[in-house]
Amino acid sequence: MIAIITGSGLYEIEGLMVKEDLIVDTPFGSPSGAVRKCTYKGHEVLFLPRHGIDHSIPPHKVNYRGNIRALKDLGVERIISISAVGGISREMPPGSFVLADQIIDMTRSRANTFFEGDDVVHVDFTEPYCEDMRRRIIKGSDSIDIRLTGSGTYVAVEGPRLETAAEIEMYRMAGADIVGMTAMPEAVLAREAEICYSGIYIVTNYAAGIKDGRLTTDEVVENMRRSSEKIKEFIGLLVPLLDTERACSCNSALKSARL
Ligand code: HPA
Repeated sequence: MIAIITGSGLYEIEGLMVKEDLIVDTPFGSPSGAVRKCTYKGHEVLFLPRHGIDHSIPPHKVNYRGNIRALKDLGVERIISISAVGGISREMPPGSFVLADQIIDMTRSRANTFFEGDDVVHVDFTEPYCEDMRRRIIKGSDSIDIRLTGSGTYVAVEGPRLETAAEIEMYRMAGADIVGMTAMPEAVLAREAEICYSGIYIVTNYAAGIKDGRLTTDEVVENMRRSSEKIKEFIGLLVPLLDTERACSCNSALKSARL
């Protein structure tokens, strides 16, 4: 089964028919809200807005472990994560979409593993996103009119403040293309849960210092709203493409990872 986790400005997705709100609890606490059980053209899809349906949970307070564990317990095998990001690369302007293939993790105060007891696990994270999903999504994007960059490096920052111009310049020099506050630890927890994970990012603004002027959250939310039709159309295309048997190694990520 597929789950869609959404970020700022995306609290519902038209076209998904909500059948039931599932209240789930996990040993790691509750998820961001009810997990919405939906159908889309005969496919069952779970939907979870990361910041809560009323956007009351900031990125550094999201219970990432509760979210991923809840989806795992509900039988999810693939996660499509959709979030707003700042564009560092000029090739990724506001309004464009990026399918990231790499992550630089600069978060610092988040629970970032399920294994903190007796179990010592070092999961392979060479490729932080599911490559099989990425290829399928790139193929799916052929039939829709969006500006999508099929690869890119996401730098995950702690927030909730936005970055300084000097930080963004450092991330740019390190190879980062986009900046956001939520891909980590979400991506690594999905890997530890042996769930395929893909990040589709909507560039809502140029990152600090890339363009003159202040950044505002209004800009982020407004650009997300502007992209929502495209996102809806894109998800509609992706659900049938991704609701298939898995043929990658994500479902055996814990094999050879335990000490
Ligand atoms: N920085 C961090 N996170 C973001 C940004 C940004 O510029 N835009 C949207 N999410």
